[in-house]
Amino acid sequence: MGVEFLADELEAIKAQGLYTHIRTISSPQEAWFEVDGRKVLNLCSNNYLGFANHQRLKEAAKRAIDRLGVGPGAVRTIAGTQDLHLELERKLAAFKGTEAAVLFQAGFTANLATIPAITGAGDVIFSDELNHASIIDGCRLSKARVVRYAHNDPGDLKKKLEGVTDARRKLIVTDGVFSMDGDIAPLPEIVALAREHDAMVMVDDAHGEGVLGDHGRGIVDHYGLVGEVDIEVGTLSKAFGVMGGYVAGSALLCEFLKQRGRPFLFSSALTPADVAASLAAVEILEESDELVRRLWDNTRYFKEEIRKLGFDTGHSVTPITPVMVGEASKAAKLSARLFEEGIFAQSIGYPTVPRGKARIRVMISAVHTRDDLDFALEKFALVGRELGLI
Ligand SMILES: Cc1ncc(COP(=O)(O)O)c(C=O)c1O
Repeated sequence: MGVEFLADELEAIKAQGLYTHIRTISSPQEAWFEVDGRKVLNLCSNNYLGFANHQRLKEAAKRAIDRLGVGPGAVRTIAGTQDLHLELERKLAAFKGTEAAVLFQAGFTANLATIPAITGAGDVIFSDELNHASIIDGCRLSKARVVRYAHNDPGDLKKKLEGVTDARRKLIVTDGVFSMDGDIAPLPEIVALAREHDAMVMVDDAHGEGVLGDHGRGIVDHYGLVGEVDIEVGTLSKAFGVMGGYVAGSALLCEFLKQRGRPFLFSSALTPADVAASLAAVEILEESDELVRRLWDNTRYFKEEIRKLGFDTGHSVTPITPVMVGEASKAAKLSARLFEEGIFAQSIGYPTVPRGKARIRVMISAVHTRDDLDFALEKFALVGRELGLI
């Protein structure tokens, strides 16, 4: 039948103002970079600590290419594992304070691997209603029943747990930092409820590591819950600046995922360059928390000033700063005008966020200077007034 019917679907997406225009980047991830041929301020990258173009990471990647080449050869269970992968797994486990860790190709695949591996028919998954798409898809791949609870609401989670009496196993799963809102999960309450109801706890720390906790060890460390959370999912693509994902937890969990996590078994491993650069990122964070502190100084400053201008930044308490707009077409207009003024800050609409809750998602980084942030604030004020947002 061909795929021509997709043209109508694309038209419908455009008509609703939900079409995402993907811009082209032609210089490294820095505070300022070249986008669609223009030098603009980078306010949309997850490169929280500047590792994506860090000299030490680049040198580590180059050395790994010289020693091991550019590709892993195949899936680790079929063609063997490179020593570097094992070294990074040990280093990540030590960083997170867990017994073990297991690498995946992305944070997305870490969720897709883990949820269906540890739950199935007869089980119930309790999932925050705003969880990331990779958690939602992981739940869909499991044959378990999924019960959604109200966002960050332990009261509703308790009610939902009490309503389930026939589950073989129970899993509570939540984002640590919610990637579109910048608020954080009430993990101590979730862990307490899990104990009461004999449930496992899984937290996706994609936006927490490198950001929250001592030296950026993540949300579990932030709450002093090391050893109390069964499964931590992480990504190497955000604060670590590279590419890849992992699960940290008990040695038993990680051994099991190497046997039954489908993306581990059916998709090739990370490249030596990815792994070596990630190793360098973890080492830098272990040695010093200077970049994490700088990230938070910038975050506090920008959040305070943008709120003073009259913008609504929702419930964010992290460097992820949503500037709420509402209508998708208006958010797209704000993003386009900011770009004309020298700022790349992407608008985000449905299906990434609920309909009617479109926003500009501003990402603060340790590489921004105070002048960069002041420039951004000045342009937000200008365009915000022009569009009647403040
Ligand atoms: C909460 C959360 N989990 C998982 C992912 C996926 O991570 P990755 O980009 O490594 O696949 C993201 C990033 O988009 C995320 O925000």
